[in-house]
Amino acid sequence: MTVSEIYETMDYGKAPESAADALAWLVDQGDRFGQFIDGAFTPPGEVFESRNPATGEVLAHLSQATKADVEAAVAAARKAQPKWEKLGGPGRARYLYALARLMQKHARLFAVLETLDNGKPIRESRDIDIPLAQRHFYYHAGMAQLMEAELPGRAALGVCGQIIPWNFPLLMLAWKVAPALAMGNTVVLKPAEFTSLTAMLFADLCRQAGLPNGVVNIVTGDGAVGEMIVASDVDKIAFTGSTEVGRKIREATAGSGKALTLELGGKSPYIVFDDADLDSAVEGLVDAIWFNQGQVCCAGSRLLVQEGVADAFLTKLKRRMETLRIGDPLDKSIDVGAVVDPVQLERIRGMVAGSNGEVFQAPCPLPEAGCYYPPTLITGLHPADTLMQEEIFGPVLCATTFRTPSEAIDVANNTRYGLAASVWSENINVALDVAPKLVAGVVWVNGTNMFDAAAGFGGVRESGFGREGGWEGLTAYTKSAAKPKALKPIAPFKGDQTEPQPVDRTAKLYIGGKQARPDGGYARDIYGKTGTLLGQAPIGSRKDVRNAVEAAQAAKSWAGSTAHLRAQILYYIAENLAAREGEFAARINQMTGGKTGAKEVDAAVTRLFSYAAWADKFDGQVRAVPSRTVALAMREPCGVIGAFCPDDAPLLGLVSLMAPAIAMGNRVVLVASEPFPLVATDFYQVLDTSDVPGGVVNILTGSHKDLAVPMASHMDIEAVWSFSGADISASIEKAAAGNLKRTWVNNGQARDWFAAEGEGRPFLEAATEVKTVWVPYGA
Ligand code: NAI
Repeated sequence: MTVSEIYETMDYGKAPESAADALAWLVDQGDRFGQFIDGAFTPPGEVFESRNPATGEVLAHLSQATKADVEAAVAAARKAQPKWEKLGGPGRARYLYALARLMQKHARLFAVLETLDNGKPIRESRDIDIPLAQRHFYYHAGMAQLMEAELPGRAALGVCGQIIPWNFPLLMLAWKVAPALAMGNTVVLKPAEFTSLTAMLFADLCRQAGLPNGVVNIVTGDGAVGEMIVASDVDKIAFTGSTEVGRKIREATAGSGKALTLELGGKSPYIVFDDADLDSAVEGLVDAIWFNQGQVCCAGSRLLVQEGVADAFLTKLKRRMETLRIGDPLDKSIDVGAVVDPVQLERIRGMVAGSNGEVFQAPCPLPEAGCYYPPTLITGLHPADTLMQEEIFGPVLCATTFRTPSEAIDVANNTRYGLAASVWSENINVALDVAPKLVAGVVWVNGTNMFDAAAGFGGVRESGFGREGGWEGLTAYTKSAAKPKALKPIAPFKGDQTEPQPVDRTAKLYIGGKQARPDGGYARDIYGKTGTLLGQAPIGSRKDVRNAVEAAQAAKSWAGSTAHLRAQILYYIAENLAAREGEFAARINQMTGGKTGAKEVDAAVTRLFSYAAWADKFDGQVRAVPSRTVALAMREPCGVIGAFCPDDAPLLGLVSLMAPAIAMGNRVVLVASEPFPLVATDFYQVLDTSDVPGGVVNILTGSHKDLAVPMASHMDIEAVWSFSGADISASIEKAAAGNLKRTWVNNGQARDWFAAEGEGRPFLEAATEVKTVWVPYGA
């Protein structure tokens, strides 16, 4: 088409990017890739094809890694790790910086290769994927530089297994590799089988940067290779992909002691209020759902538009859809490229065909060959319809309407996911009132799909756990530098006192601010060291867990109470406990047969004071992100936390879990020390006299083993912690896979509750989720 013809039709002219250099690079590599292990490529093994989804052409052949390959990669990473960590932050920063520079130098090659391999428009790979990947390496070069000063007492985890999807191949690699390396870990990474080519180019850059052998290892292949990595001798698994596979990985790693972060699916709401700038909101929607063909975990795939403007908005939207151009991803004037693979195309087609809504599709003709699917809008769906609930992972938007802000929040939160949300309103009061009420890890105000290395990204609910980016992303790649010690199990004392008791000394459970008999009606004798009967503790059951969770859920308003109020109540608990110090000290000594009761009560009072202090000080941060926005890293409570208290330090241990959790606005269901529960049942009186609202703290007694699975599998509990002396870490992690609740378990390791490791930031971090709220700021 000539320029004058373009003027006549006002149509776009083609502006194709050349694929020549990228194709030549593939030829130079010999077209067949082996594994990148210990700084070198292995000879190709059993190969599979990597195709260009826009044309169906074979781009290269990749090798399916064998178990021996994965083991060799892990061994290389293991061998390289201590030296890499000892290099120190500034030493590692140099390498990360060199990688960033090299990525920048080869940006064009990366962008074209990514587009050829994935089908995404070159506009996106050139302007979004590749610059953000570089930015991640620059940012984390800085984190390496600052690690020793800013993260004292933290050390690398060791070897990290990292499994990534096909929607942002290089960007996901950067999100995983940069923070891991910065913190002194070495990695074994598996790109997705559809899109491994930019990872191969990255491997080549690792060689060019002179990265020590074994620091980065890349193995290719399908899910079976992913499973091998999960099962291998790594210290952590970082996964991005489908919720289904995430759940499998949670189960497979349960009890292994491997750290785990999961970035999973989403069905993110895009909420348009009637006072929104509708034209901007339409443009935003193009980026929310048609960016990367909608193959984005945080895509704004559920449009919720306020009734009064719904018709006008949908009319504007359809008009905009008529101008979307779908076609050759290498054409710079293309809006929507190819879907990653025929398998994904069929999935999208199948899901849309099964819908009973009204389907509108962009009229742009599709190229005859290749994996193309038109931008699609489906209206008339019920919030409970499959397409409103399930992730389609394609260019398909499902729309519904709402009347009031509170209805918008209800519909938005009516999902098992909680990854992201967009709120559009010109009224700052509406937008910033709604943002905290959305159950999501990321909220964009008058924007969408904004990412930056300085801003944490990640979800809640079944969208997974852990954050990538920002300071919070580093917790996932570090651990305490202290050497772990094994926990010694404590058996309850035995006795055979059978005389009838003059007074019934059967304690009760504490549920909803009241003492409650256990549902099963049974209690266990509790003896002192010399065999004296001290009293009886109820044997809590699954039903008691349910009752306690119900009470905790009913106490939701605690999350919205002021931090000042929570601090006051913690001080009050401390004061009331201090007033009864002698009585509690005697009880501890009686139960444990020790002499440290007074010391323990004193430590518990101090701990309560510490968390009263923290309640209004463990706050959020403002992140310096580019482009006329700021990102607020807001700390929110997890919700209801179930916690198994340590067996040793029966009072201090309980307080050490309860106080950080409630200080941050959570409600708790605590299971008291199994051998020494009576100090917990005495503690009810302290709670009762300290203005703790009913349901904020619930306390059960009974067998940790029996209560572990009911607690971890309960769908209304958001997190489970265990510092129990019983061997329940594995069963908790496994049962938690159901709704992918976050877990924090001791895996048989001891913790000194009297020492610094018994309190502080790790507890507060576990008690909170960081919600990143992007708001417009500046011109
Ligand atoms: P997937 O979750 O199967 O694949 C992601 C990665 O995990 C790939 O590298 C894959 O090889 C690996 N993998 C697969 N099975 C594994 C296993 N059992 N153990 C360890 N690793 C394993 O995603 P898939 O099949 O490519 O896409 C299916 C659906 O998943 C999509 O339609 C979409 O709904 C969702 N998805 C979500 C993503 C996100 O970013 N949240 C990314 C990719 C897919």
